[in-house]
Amino acid sequence: MSETEIKKGLAGVVVDYTAVSKVNPESNSLLYRGYPVQELAATQPFEAVAYLLWNGELPTAQQLAELRTEERKHRALTEQVRAAIDLLPLEAHPMDEVRTAVSVIGAVDMGGSGSVLDASGSPEQNLQRSIQLYAALPAIVAYGQRRRRGLELIEPRDDLDYSANFLWMAFGEEADPVVIDAFNRSMILYAEHSFNASTFAARVITSTLSDLYSAVVGAIGALKGPLHGGANEAVLHIMNEIGSADNVEAWLDKALAEKRKIMGFGHRVYKNGDSRVPTMKAALDTLVEHYDRPDVAELYSKLESEFVARKGIYPNLDYPSGPAYSLIGFDTLTFTPLFIAARVTGWTAHIMEQAASNALIRPLSAYNGVEERHVEGGQA
Ligand code: CMC
Repeated sequence: MSETEIKKGLAGVVVDYTAVSKVNPESNSLLYRGYPVQELAATQPFEAVAYLLWNGELPTAQQLAELRTEERKHRALTEQVRAAIDLLPLEAHPMDEVRTAVSVIGAVDMGGSGSVLDASGSPEQNLQRSIQLYAALPAIVAYGQRRRRGLELIEPRDDLDYSANFLWMAFGEEADPVVIDAFNRSMILYAEHSFNASTFAARVITSTLSDLYSAVVGAIGALKGPLHGGANEAVLHIMNEIGSADNVEAWLDKALAEKRKIMGFGHRVYKNGDSRVPTMKAALDTLVEHYDRPDVAELYSKLESEFVARKGIYPNLDYPSGPAYSLIGFDTLTFTPLFIAARVTGWTAHIMEQAASNALIRPLSAYNGVEERHVEGGQA
């Protein structure tokens, strides 16, 4: 195989069909099951978008009510998950904590499945597993943050919908509607993005007929990296390092001279701007006003305009979502776990799609190691 046939990072390679979402970099659009993501973020609760990703259609009022009832049933931390989290050192990275919790849920739920031959599950079982995981993740993420802050667990509230309850479990007070709305939008924008690294990892694992939980655990591992989900956490580190808008130019001179990557900018697919950014930036603006933090908006705009002017590289979703989550009150380390709670809907939609038309994903490699050789005196 010649060198030129290799597509490093699978860049530009179309691996399979998907009906879950469509990314169109030319028109700068992202559709979930045909609907523009901006439209969904402006009009829908996250629960309806989860339903859409799994089932292909937006729910009727009754279907939404049924999903909400089911979600409420699985909101509370189970004994095993809480015990597993409590065993971890407080210094454990929250991504490792969530990955471990999902692994425990899988081990408990798959307990009766016997042979690995039964692991992949029926479409009905996998839909149910998807709903349970999506329902369980907010408590895991919220409890993780509370534990690190030395605070007590807060039980879920049945009278609150997904986003309001998530914020309740994290902070122990009812969030303002402006905050709930911004948070809901972020969950929708993070929910799905075609064959990104973590979704592809989940599909690779599913293609071996492994179970849904194993695929999600693998996806979390892929999401942790700073070139993928870890970027929203990295954005805040950068913003804290810079401090204020006045320091942007000098900071950027130094960072670029050191050839540092500026987290929250650039994208493998979108080269002229990430279609999700304007919607999340609008949500960030509402938070800036709500919390009266014009300094955050100034730093945001200054770094964006300077970096775009110098490099022609545009922000991705992590750029506005990092400061948005920080204003809401989440610790920087909790940002990427929030991404998990959202993306689990997209991952599981892809896992079910992969399972429905499966082919083992097993690409080829071109060998470039030493030529065949033999152990001295050992040739038979
Ligand atoms: N800061 C500085 N330079 C950059 C950046 C950046 N954020 N992004 C790209 N470049 C430069 C890069 O150094 C390279 O320059 P050169 O050709 O001189 O070596 C050129 O642009 C092409 O970059 P690349 O890394 O080869 O392009 P890619 O398509 O492989 O990278 C990316 C996409 C997201 C990995 C990259 O833009 C990056 O590392 N960004 C920062 C991390 C980040 O924000 N990740 C979140 C991605 S979006 C959310 C998600 O889907 O998870």
